Amino acid sequence: MSRIVYVNGEYLPEEDAKISIFDRGFLMADGVYEVTSVLDGKLVDFEGHAVRLERSLTELDMAAPATKDELLAIHRELVERNGIVEGMIYLQVTRGAPGDRDFAFPDPEETPSTLVLFTQNKPGLADNPAAKKGIKVISIEDIRWGRRDIKTVQLLYPSMGKMMAKKAGADDAWLVEDGFVTEGTSNNAYIVKGRKIITRALSSDILHGITRAAVLRFAKEAQMEVEERNFTIEEAQDADEAFITSASTFVMPVVEIDGAQIGTGTPGEVAPRLREIYLEESLKAAV
Ligand code: PDD
Repeated sequence: MSRIVYVNGEYLPEEDAKISIFDRGFLMADGVYEVTSVLDGKLVDFEGHAVRLERSLTELDMAAPATKDELLAIHRELVERNGIVEGMIYLQVTRGAPGDRDFAFPDPEETPSTLVLFTQNKPGLADNPAAKKGIKVISIEDIRWGRRDIKTVQLLYPSMGKMMAKKAGADDAWLVEDGFVTEGTSNNAYIVKGRKIITRALSSDILHGITRAAVLRFAKEAQMEVEERNFTIEEAQDADEAFITSASTFVMPVVEIDGAQIGTGTPGEVAPRLREIYLEESLKAAV
């Protein structure tokens, strides 16, 4: 059955949805995006994603295509029309289609931004078997641009990173810059020592994960210590546990880094507990 997707004010079957070849998202990767998860037919952390989208748009001087309330209504309509119980909603805003190719930004009065949303049905997302086993990561150099705090659609290097991981028999890659881990290809990275959670501090070096913010808040509420600082791959390999967070993986234990087993090589106590708390609390707060 084909999905109903949203394109610039219209709900359409996916095969009827069309974007201009001159769209700057297509030609210049001049676009930003958000991924919001759906649990129990409700949106997880919608507010956080909407606020970060506004920030990404502002940082790139891009016009907002809809208000937060309008976006919420579109998200809900898509969940409803596609019968999503567990899955994701992908949203993308680009600087529109000026009708030709030009490096200069078009006048937003003449070229409205493009807004596209679609659902991804993922039954069993919360009960992902990978969370019981943990995942393996490799480390690669972080050669992305310097504004990783903006959630742009420039995802070529993260895609290459995932392919490098796959080729090496791993599940994902952690990015390393000047000897320190920045983040995962599409997630934030953490290590655990005792009951202390260590993760890189927020800056333009990493995406300010919405799941990260929630998980750190829950960790503090559960009397765990949180230290926001740089760490190396060597420190991670020596840690008791490691994990990643994102809207699509929630909290996912990492059990191997560059072939070195973390702790016992199985998920420890902290990451699975944080996953449990995150899922429970997020579901309660979902809209
Ligand atoms: N990725 N860091 C990067 C580079 C990311 O792409 C993501 C999200 C995160 C985690 O952010 P959040 O917790 O807000 O999802 C961190 C999404 C899920 C994606 O590209 O599919």
